[in-house]
Amino acid sequence: MNTNSKPFTKITTAFALALSIGGASQAIADQRTPILVSAAEQDALLGEMRSFLEAVQTITEALAENDMATVAETAKTMGMRAAKGVPAPLMKKLPMDFRKMGMVTHIAFDELAQSVEVADNPLEVVAELGDLMLNCTACHATYRFGIEDDS
Ligand code: HEC
Repeated sequence: MNTNSKPFTKITTAFALALSIGGASQAIADQRTPILVSAAEQDALLGEMRSFLEAVQTITEALAENDMATVAETAKTMGMRAAKGVPAPLMKKLPMDFRKMGMVTHIAFDELAQSVEVADNPLEVVAELGDLMLNCTACHATYRFGIEDDS
């Protein structure tokens, strides 16, 4: 009565094997440079990252509604104003290239806020937001955070 179970088992095994091979190759593929920071510093950095994403979400929705005031206001909160709060001991742990990419991203948000004043339509600002987000993806492709060994 169990004649159908054999091929099924074979397929499941093959599938599980394919998954485990896929998983292994993914781990090897992570060649991002680790930036070692304390757990508290990592929390602060990731918190800032979530603010970036929230801002991009608010801006995208506001652009779809042609609500340029919200676009400008939200972009300004992520501008250079937001970059000032990094403590000196943390700053020292961040590679120069990382700091530059972070700075360029904050400046790009300020520029986005200014573009709202002169843009003829929301699509121009969408294009600029797309360009701005190349900074997000470039940095994410290059770096990851790791917890430093405090011993
Ligand atoms: C200067 C480098 C840099 C820039 C620019 C950058 N990020 Fe990140 N981001 C990181 C790193 C590093 C991590 C941690 C990745 C890891 O450890 O795997 C991260 C993590 C995140 C996370 C995950 C947060 C969490 O709680 O785990 C989000 C969301 C995020 N970034 C959004 C953004 C967005 C949106 C932008 C652009 C507006 C952006 N980031 C720009 C470096 C950057």
